[in-house]
Amino acid sequence: MYQRALLFSALWTAVQAQQAGTLTAENHPPLTWQQCTAGGSCTEQTGSVVLDANWRWLHSVQGSQNCYTGNTWDAGLCPDNVACATNCALDGADYRGTYGVTTSGNALTLQFATGANIGSRLYLLADDETYQTFNLLNSEFTFDVDASRLPCGLNGAVYFVAMDADGGSGRYPENRAGARYGTGYCDSQCPRDIKFINGEANAEGWTPSTNNRNTGVGGRGSCCPEMDIWEANSISTAYTPHPCESNTQTICEGDNCGGTYSATRYAGTCDPDGCDFNPTRMGNDSFYGPGSLVDSTAPVTVVTQFLTADGTSTGALSDIRRFYVQNGRVIANAESNVAGVSGNSITTEFCNAQKSVFANDNVFEQKGGLQAMGEGLTDMVLTLSLWDDYYASMMWLDSVYPEGADRNSPGAVRGTCEPGVGEPQRVEAQFGSATVTYSNIKFGPIGSTFQAPA
Ligand SMILES: *[C@@H]1O[C@H](CO)[C@@H](O)[C@H](O)[C@H]1NC(C)=O
Repeated sequence: MYQRALLFSALWTAVQAQQAGTLTAENHPPLTWQQCTAGGSCTEQTGSVVLDANWRWLHSVQGSQNCYTGNTWDAGLCPDNVACATNCALDGADYRGTYGVTTSGNALTLQFATGANIGSRLYLLADDETYQTFNLLNSEFTFDVDASRLPCGLNGAVYFVAMDADGGSGRYPENRAGARYGTGYCDSQCPRDIKFINGEANAEGWTPSTNNRNTGVGGRGSCCPEMDIWEANSISTAYTPHPCESNTQTICEGDNCGGTYSATRYAGTCDPDGCDFNPTRMGNDSFYGPGSLVDSTAPVTVVTQFLTADGTSTGALSDIRRFYVQNGRVIANAESNVAGVSGNSITTEFCNAQKSVFANDNVFEQKGGLQAMGEGLTDMVLTLSLWDDYYASMMWLDSVYPEGADRNSPGAVRGTCEPGVGEPQRVEAQFGSATVTYSNIKFGPIGSTFQAPA
C-alpha cells in the first residue's frame, strides 16, 4: 500500500510538467566557433544549435494528438496553462527536412520557407542541455554573413538575449524540456506569442492571429534585455541595444507587457524601440546594399565591440562600435550625416541626439540606456534567426516608417524598399527559397577577432 502510494506520487510528479517528446530524435546540428585571446590566437569550440520550442510539434504526452493546430490550442488537452504543460510534449526536430536548417563546420544556413514552415530561430548550445553564454562587456563579437539572397521584408538576425542558460528548467522545474528543446525565449518586445513561459503554457487568453495561420497572442509575455548585433537583408542593416529593468528573464501579464504584441507599447519593463544605428537612417544611403561600400551581394565580416568606461569586463558600457571587413579591407561604420546627430557608434550622446532629432520617445533612456544595457550583457545567449514581420512588414528596417510618414521627416527613411513590398503573404509566396548563412563566429577581447586598423 505504502509502495503503491509512493509510486503513484512519483508518477504524479513526473507528469506535472512541460514535457519533452521522443517521436522524432532531437539531434542538435553541430556548429564550431572560435574563442580568441588577447594575443589574437583563437581556439575552436565545438558547439551546436537548437531550434526554439515555438516551432516544434506539440502533441499529447501519451500519443500524437496535436496540442496546438494552426494557431489554436486544443481545448481538451489545454483547458488551462498548467494542465496543458502536463498533457503536452515538445518533440524533436527534423532540422533539414522540416525547417530548412543545415550546418557545415562553422557555417549555419537557414532557408526561409520549407514546406509549411516559415522562418526559424536557433540558439547556440555549449552542450546538449545548456546554452552557450557570453559576457560581452569589454569584448568583441565577430561573424560572417551572406545576406545576398534576403529581399525586402526578410530579416536575417544575429542577436543576444538574456535567457536562462538551462532554458529555465532550474528556476521552473516544471519545464522538463529545457535548453535541449529550445525553451525559455525572451526578448525586449516581451513576446506574447511564446507557447510556454516559466514551465506553463500560454494558452489562457490566447487570441489566434487574424493574419498569420501559425501564431497568436497569449495572456503572458517573456521579457529580457536584447542586444541586436545584426538585423538585415540585402538592402538595409541595423544594430540596436534594448535594455530592460530586469537583467534576467521575467514573465509579464497582458498589455502590461508592452512591446509589439501589446496595445500599450511602452507599458512594460523593457525598451521595445532600442537605440538603433542603421546607416541609411543616419543619412548614408550608399554605405550598405548591393554594390555599396559594404556590398551585400557578397559575404561580409561584421565586428561589434562593447567598450566600457574603465576598459574592464566589469565596467560601465560606454560605446558599441561597428566595423566591417570585406575583401581584406576594414571599413569603419558610417558617420551620421543627420544634422544634430554625430558619431558612427552607439553612445549615450548619440542616442539622446538621435531620439531628439527624430522626435522619438526616448524609452531607451527611460529604461536605463547604455548603463542598463551593459548590466544586461554579462550573461547572454546567442540567437540566430530568419523571419518576416506580420506587424510592420519590416518597413522599420528597410523602407519608410512609420507607415505613410513623409520621406523628408528626419529618421523616416530606413532603406530603399517600397512600402509594403515586405508584406508576409507576398514574401512567403515569392521568396520561400531565400537563405541566409552565418559563419565563422569569433569571440574574445577587443582586437582579438579581426585585424584592426593600425
Ligand atoms: C557614406 O560612408 C562612406 C564611408 O564612411 C563615406 O565614404 C561616404 O562619403 C558616405 N556617404 C555619404 C553620402 O555621406
